[in-house]
Amino acid sequence: MSAPAGSEWVNPLRDKRDKRMPRIAGPCAVVIFGVTGDLARKKLMPAIYDLANRGLLPPQFALVGFARREWAHEDFGKEVYEAVQQHARTPFHQEVWDRLSEGIRFVQGDFSDDAAFQRLADTLHSLDTERGTGGNHAFYLSIPPKAFPLVCEKLAQFGLARETDGCWNRVVIEKPFGHDLASAESLNAVVNTVFPESSVFRIDHYLGKETVQNLLALRFANTMFEPIWNAHYVDHVQITMAEDIGLGGRAGYYDGIGAARDVIQNHLLQLLALTAMEEPVNFSPAELQAEKIKVLSATRLAQPLDQTTARGQYAAGWQGSQQVVGLLDEEGFAKTSTTETYAAITLDVDTRRWAGVPFYLRSGKRLGRRVTEIALVFKRAPHLPFDATMTEELGHNALVIRVQPDEGITLRFGSKVPGNRMEVRDVNMDFSYGSAFAEESPEAYERLILDVLLGEPSLFPVNAEVELAWQILDPALEHWAALDAEGGGPEPYAAGSWGPDSAFEMLHRVGREWRRP
Ligand code: BG6
Repeated sequence: MSAPAGSEWVNPLRDKRDKRMPRIAGPCAVVIFGVTGDLARKKLMPAIYDLANRGLLPPQFALVGFARREWAHEDFGKEVYEAVQQHARTPFHQEVWDRLSEGIRFVQGDFSDDAAFQRLADTLHSLDTERGTGGNHAFYLSIPPKAFPLVCEKLAQFGLARETDGCWNRVVIEKPFGHDLASAESLNAVVNTVFPESSVFRIDHYLGKETVQNLLALRFANTMFEPIWNAHYVDHVQITMAEDIGLGGRAGYYDGIGAARDVIQNHLLQLLALTAMEEPVNFSPAELQAEKIKVLSATRLAQPLDQTTARGQYAAGWQGSQQVVGLLDEEGFAKTSTTETYAAITLDVDTRRWAGVPFYLRSGKRLGRRVTEIALVFKRAPHLPFDATMTEELGHNALVIRVQPDEGITLRFGSKVPGNRMEVRDVNMDFSYGSAFAEESPEAYERLILDVLLGEPSLFPVNAEVELAWQILDPALEHWAALDAEGGGPEPYAAGSWGPDSAFEMLHRVGREWRRP
């Protein structure tokens, strides 16, 4: 796929321009559907202000909110202001705000309301001339997926999905992209009847994280990692996304979705793809996506599923010094909910590089602490010329990419304990972003919104990746649904622990252990 017409493709790793020259978006308007939601308030509106504050948005920029509330432009402006005050990462500058707020508009309406879409089209057309946004529009659908088809159809009906005279119209879709392969296929089909694939930007905000992009630099800009990045040296890979937060207030989205659909289908499988893929010919979107698609096509759940998967649901417990309720007592969740808040799966990647190396993926809410990491756990040395007692405390060597928090990389290896006898113990060698670089990493949403406005697609999963991810996960979802039907729901685990016993058992059974981050 080449960059859409009228956009500027900047190769992030081979950009020969002056690095001090920031990439600045051209004239455009961003329309957010679902402005009253959490994501818009906590992430999207603050990210737009932060981009403006960093000088990355042009003066010819407008922000349009679309929602059912009876708001005037000024009321929406106040909402944006509050969101910026509470959640922006850069300092507040009155003159930046004043410039941004001059381009803020609100359109009141329902997704099925033709008159509202006509008002939206009129608003955008007048902004195009008044504010100079030049007919370029990004529609951000921060709304439930069941509303995607309707909104896309209305945009098409009111002429807002056409690319004309060098102007662009792009649609940004938030996950979940369907709830299984079949629904994702039909969703993609509807979206693609309105917007060509090159105008569809599916957000997986993990791809906007600095540490995730650093995986490419780590693997392909260095000589020393790639030779051992394979089945000859790696025993297994663990990808962990642990969160300490619970699901209070999120029942509407999460009940019936669960951990596997919420984050494994997208974030964790994307991390797997970047970890396991072959070296792309270059970092153009097409080459990068081709490698991710290839490795996802070779990935499948290990069998039998009752031994290679595990799921749980948090019960009451202690999160640090705070006593917290279990999922079934969280507001809005049915007392009989079988939604899993923890999921673990085992994947095989059927390629020469990874044959026989399991990839263990796990994610959960209300776990011991918030941490996301990718750990390559190496095989033991084939021979240890020491007395057994000398290496009792030697574990497996490991290379750990710390995605968050405390972003960085840890290399774990054995070292001699100082003293007059030989005793080998594990030590860590650390690289930490915080101490190595003075520059602060931009927030994922800032990076991704800017990329949408620049028409730069490499950090957005394409249709095929989304569908392959469902194809990989579907058998586990079906397996769990069958267990639910027999009355065997997810196993409870105490809040603040590291998940259900069955997840520990899943690894013990094969002589391995989860890392305790
Ligand atoms: C979202 C999930 O995609 O990622 C949430 O829907 C999760 O359930 C969130 O809490 C975590 O994002 P981050 O960037 O804080 O790791």
